[in-house]
Order: sequence, then structure tokens, then C-alpha cells
Amino acid sequence: MGLSKWSILDAEYTDERGEKRRVFEPHEAQLRVMEDPSRMKVLPCGRRLGKSNMEAHELIPYAFLARKRANWLKSEGKRMEYWIVGPEYADSEKAFRVFYDKCSKLGMPFDRPGTYYSVQTGDMVVSLWDGAFILQAKSENRPNSLVGEALSGVILDEAAKMKQITWDQLIRPTLADFGGWAIFTSTPEGKNWFYKLYMDSIQPNNEGWNGFRIPSWKNPHVFRGKTEDADVKRLLQIMNEHPELSSFEVIRSEGLVIDKEIAQMANDLTIPMFQQEVAADFTDFVGKVFKEFDEETHTRLIRYNPAWETVAAVDYGYRNPSVWLLIQIGPWGEINVIDELYQENLAPDEFAHEILRRELLPDSCTEFFPDPASPGDTAVLENIFRRAGKRVKARPHTGGELSNRLNLIRLALKNRVTDTELSSEQWKSHPTAQDRMRPRLMISTKCVNMIYEMGQYRYPEKKNEQVEVSTKRFELPLKKDDHTPEALGRFLAGRYHSAASQHGGTTKISHAKFLRGLGKDKVGYGTEPAGIGGRHTGKRRGAWMG
Ligand SMILES: Nc1ncnc2c1ncn2[C@@H]1O[C@H](COP(=O)(O)OP(=O)(O)OP(=O)(O)O)[C@@H](O)[C@H]1O
Ligand SMILES: [Mg+2]
Repeated sequence: MGLSKWSILDAEYTDERGEKRRVFEPHEAQLRVMEDPSRMKVLPCGRRLGKSNMEAHELIPYAFLARKRANWLKSEGKRMEYWIVGPEYADSEKAFRVFYDKCSKLGMPFDRPGTYYSVQTGDMVVSLWDGAFILQAKSENRPNSLVGEALSGVILDEAAKMKQITWDQLIRPTLADFGGWAIFTSTPEGKNWFYKLYMDSIQPNNEGWNGFRIPSWKNPHVFRGKTEDADVKRLLQIMNEHPELSSFEVIRSEGLVIDKEIAQMANDLTIPMFQQEVAADFTDFVGKVFKEFDEETHTRLIRYNPAWETVAAVDYGYRNPSVWLLIQIGPWGEINVIDELYQENLAPDEFAHEILRRELLPDSCTEFFPDPASPGDTAVLENIFRRAGKRVKARPHTGGELSNRLNLIRLALKNRVTDTELSSEQWKSHPTAQDRMRPRLMISTKCVNMIYEMGQYRYPEKKNEQVEVSTKRFELPLKKDDHTPEALGRFLAGRYHSAASQHGGTTKISHAKFLRGLGKDKVGYGTEPAGIGGRHTGKRRGAWMG
């Protein structure tokens, strides 16, 4: 801008108490945003992050720049004009007030007339250098006031609460003349236009745009205690599983590093509200079958572990893909999906041969869980496997209500167990550190189709997406992207059934109890970890290696 922003913001002035202060000392997150040179910046932020403060101080250097250019601007009949726009005057007034106060402290000579400050009438204008610089606070509610001027820059405070049309049709065109910039700040409001704007802004090829998503706890002036991002995630997971626990109890018992005020908000707000207002998450999961599924959390590169029990899960398809998932169950009930076959146009015998050819059936795998509606296909698989010298058998009781199987998958996604792999590493280097936790269900990054489907599998959202005419149509997901979840559900249903019958058949076990017992609670094993030793592990080790 022909004048260094930081030479102005870093300059010192003497405040009302006679102390020397910098014009603005941004905190780390503000600094990162302010140093980014993009013309358009989209900032989903948590409440109290310091949005208004930063916006106001973004404008201060332009006020000084305008003084330098005042004569030239005048001779050209131009001025540098900036707007702060909010859904209401009360919203845009916040940053306006910070700007106004800082200008006063810096002894800037407001033009009078020309400078006004009334929230009630909406007259909020700072005029400097005989009108060479103008800042106005505006409200979306008064669209008439949003017409006309050519702007050098605009700030949309609480952008997600405004209409897209306000940006597209009223504001964007005013930036064209002078190549003006825009800053959008807001707490998220579900996946609306602001979400799309943010997602677009962070695409690497979107020239001139950038985005930063910043949770509240990055403001050290309000949230003085330290807060670890991962610990907040963990807190929410546990609170989700245990609604009876307060945030403070969880933080204490897990030794989480989370600021007191943040903890208080986690306690007072509902989890989705906290995610939106504090964590600055776009938490609109309408329609997703597995809203618990998070690619970052539930996937990693997982290798075959010869000590773990190995099983497979099946979904038959012909035109649709046939699915074979190779699954390992750890001593504490960990479920790892380690590999997949996902292929269309396979007859049952071709499917079986493909599984063998790709070495997706190690000798240690003794059972597979198919759809009970296709016993013929299952017989074909068993025959071919037997002839290949495999002793794998199909398991029964894999049917029942779909919703039941989906619930088992959700539980396995949500539930957390100690991450023995990572914790043992950590134990060596930091003896006092907490155990690391992992979701009970994890999927190897090799299973690209499964990872895709777990995120895509959806319920109908609109009328025309309804595929099935039945009284249940609103509860049934679309028959699309459902092949790997179908297979996984067969496995969990079959396991669930045998666990239930081990509990006396008539005694119903809860889903949660089932998951807790998945690894170690099998009859005959007592508290011993199951899956290693015993009848489920083949004597011969398979040639199969991840
Ligand atoms: N760089 C900073 N230095 C000192 N204090 C700051 C700084 N940034 C923000 N603050 C303080 O943090 C508090 C919140 O700031 P601000 O009002 O700008 O946040 P906000 O994100 O706009 O909040 P809201 O969600 O309420 O609109 C204020 O008390 C403000 O003075
Ligand atoms: Mg604000």
C-alpha cells in the first residue's frame, strides 16, 4: 500500500495514563491473518477471538496512508472509503467503536462536520483529512444505505448471518473500481454460503483469496489458560459418550489442558453449539448417516498384525461393487479394517478368486460375515476357499434391522479405547504421559472406497431423493455409497449376536456393553484378552502381509 502497515501498527504512542504503548499488538492468530497478503480473507472464528479488534486495526494504517495521499486524492476528486457491514448496526458498531477510540487516542483530527457517531440513527462515520478518508458502519438491514460508493475495502462482521446476495450484488461490485479488499469474519452458521466461501477461499488455486478458521481459545487476552486443540476434541468426545459428566470432571480425570473459561462454555453450551460458537466448526451434518465419522480421526495406515484375530466382512454385488473387508480385532476390542476389495461386475466365483488372488484371505482368517439373504453366493465362496486350502467359514446371524447395524457402526466410531501402538511408544519416551486413545473402529488409508463411503453415505434430504416407498422411507438411508458400511454392519451384527447368546441368550446386552466386551469379554476367556491364542487363531501363519 505504499506505506508499511507495521511501521504504523508497531509505532508507539503515549496513552491516557502517560504510558508508552504500541498502536496494536496482535496476538498470534491475529498476526497470522494480518500478515497474509490476500485481497479477500475469510475468517470463521469462535466468539471473543478478537475479530472486531483486529478489523479496526486493519483500518488504522489506511487512515495514515490517506493523509499521505490527501492532496493527490483531492486533485483527482477521489477518496479512500471503507465500510464495516454487519447484520445490524449493533454488529458493525463494535469494530467501528474500536477504530473511533483508537483514532481519538492517537490524536487524529476528525473532520467536523463529517464525523458522526450514533448507533440509534445508524449515523456512524469517521471522516479524516478533509474527507480523503471515510469509514462508515453499515447495516444489512438498511439495504438502501448499501448502494453506490466505490470502496477501497470492506469488512463484513458476522458475515455468516448475512445474506449472500448482500455480498454478491450490493458489496462486491463496489470493490471493482479501486481493486478494493474484503475481510469476512464470523462464527459459523452451519453449512451455508459462508461455509462455501471459506471452503473456496482455502483452495490452493483460488488466487487472491485465503481463509483461516480460528477457535476462541486462540485469544490469550480473554482465555488466559493454555488450551490444546486435541484436548478440546477429546473433551467433546467424552462428553458426547458420557452426558452425565461435567466438562470439569472430564478435564480433571483425563488431565486435559483446557482454559477454565473454555471449560465453562463446554459445560454450559450443547456440544453442537460449543463446536460452532467456540471451536468455529461448521457443524451441519444434516443427512450424513455417520456424522461421527471423521477422516482425520478414523483413518491411518494400518498393517496386518499377526497377533490379532482376523475376520472378513462381505457385501455381495453384481452390477454394484462386491465388497470384501479384511478386519482385525485387537486384544482390547480394537477393530481395524486393514484392507478392502471393492469391485463391480463380479460373479460369486470370480469374486472368490479375486479375493485369493489379491491375498485378502490370510490363513489366520477363520470366519467371514456375509449377507444372509444370499446363501448361494456364500456357498460358492466357501467351496472355492476350501479348495484353496483355507478353513474359513461363513458366520450366521448377520441380518436383522438395518438401523440396528448402523447403530453398532456408530458406536464403534464413537467409542474410544487405549491406543496400545501409540501409547507404548509414548510410554518409552515420557513415562508420565497419559495413554493415547483411539476410536474403537479404525480404517486403513489403503481402503479408499470405504473411507469415501463412510463420509458419503446419506439419508434422503429432499423429496425427489426418496428411492423406496415404504412407511420407513424417512429413516432409511439412500441405497448409494452403502456397500462397505453394509459389509461392516454384517460383521458387527454377527459378533453382536454371538456375544448376546453368550450372555445367556435371553438377557439382552446393550450395544455399549457389547463393544466393551468385544475383545476381552468372550466366554471362556475371563479377563484374558481374546483374539490372541485360543480357537480363533490359526496355527499356521498366513503369508499375507500388509
Ligand atoms: N490484540 C489484542 N490485544 C489485547 N486485547 C485484545 C486483542 N484482541 C482482542 N482483545 C480483547 O479480546 C476481547 C474480545 O475481542 P473482540 O471484541 O474484538 O472479539 P470478537 O471476536 O469480535 O468478539 P465477539 O464474538 O463478541 O464479537 C476484547 O476484550 C478485546 O479487547
Ligand atoms: Mg465482534
